Amino acid sequence: MTSRVETLLGRWDGEEVIVRHDQLTNAWIVIAIHSTRLGPAAGGTRMKPYESLADAVEDAQRLAEGMTYKFAIADLPRGGGKAVLAVPQGLRERERADLLRRYGALIAQLGGLYQTGPDVGTSAVDMDVIAETGAPYVFGRTPDHGGSGDSGPATAVGVLAGMRVTCERLFGQGALAGRSVVVQGAGSVGLPLLRLLLEEGADVAFADAAPEACERAHAELGLRAIAPEEVYDRACDIFAPCALGGILNERTIPRLRCRAVVGSANNQLASEGDAVRLRDRGILYAPDYVVNCGGAMALLGRETLGWSHEEADARIAATVRATLAQIYALADAEDVPTDEAARIVADARLERGPASASAGRGGAAM
Ligand code: PHE
Repeated sequence: MTSRVETLLGRWDGEEVIVRHDQLTNAWIVIAIHSTRLGPAAGGTRMKPYESLADAVEDAQRLAEGMTYKFAIADLPRGGGKAVLAVPQGLRERERADLLRRYGALIAQLGGLYQTGPDVGTSAVDMDVIAETGAPYVFGRTPDHGGSGDSGPATAVGVLAGMRVTCERLFGQGALAGRSVVVQGAGSVGLPLLRLLLEEGADVAFADAAPEACERAHAELGLRAIAPEEVYDRACDIFAPCALGGILNERTIPRLRCRAVVGSANNQLASEGDAVRLRDRGILYAPDYVVNCGGAMALLGRETLGWSHEEADARIAATVRATLAQIYALADAEDVPTDEAARIVADARLERGPASASAGRGGAAM
């Protein structure tokens, strides 16, 4: 009988998957390379427990595919990749750091085929550790170690720009003052996004499954969390998923009471049918990889193209504004879900090949 892992590996339309078992921690390292059409594959390192190796492989593959479209949309000369470190529960600090170093050595062995950065479960400090053995293929180290630091705030800048475009389309004006926004997750993107929204005068609510994240949002922003499940039922203008993927599905979409979904989580739609489900409910969906490209842009722009912090923020906002407006217009013109419109735009850029990556032109290679 064919196992699920065999099916996932055998039927994937991406380029390759590297799977390594780490004996000392009993963790699985999975690196998925979806496409190197626009450049060497890049994508973050996700570290968390998974139910099975198959779940880890599937997540890495889907996330890598999302990175391919994200780089195409952001016009950056990179291909789509992603790494998943499927770790046992309660890994000790020391074991975790040693695992990161062995993972770094694997990245170095790949010799630039795959470049990494932070993602769910890893931080800028973790990138410093991975870079001890994995340099020069690691983005997002701390500034003290020569990196551009946490990319979460840059991602939040792009999501905010996406919310403005969405409000313009729904309400005729982009201002967020007085708009109600429910944010799922107050982590590396959710927390800075909440801060930006408060500065804009939006009416915000948030939830996070981790008590520490709720305490931090309360301490820094004076906000009190709502119950995690309540994010789906609460009436609001915009629902912003900024935690894990797959949260827009047949169970949650019928409950939503928002006008639009604009958030940073990767792979928000559980399946393609969910894009149609949202459209049928009259909910405008801002495709995840279109509005969450800010982190990727900041990491690459600042570390390989010489952008300043300010320049990165300005370019992120401009890119999200232009591409999301184009995608909404195309979805109207072709009468297709916004997710499909985004694929049409991304596929056209992939079709054209590396030369279309204008942001990379003249930039130093990493
Ligand atoms: N993990 C983030 C993302 O999905 C940031 C990142 C981008 C990390 C590109 C590495 C490379 O966009």
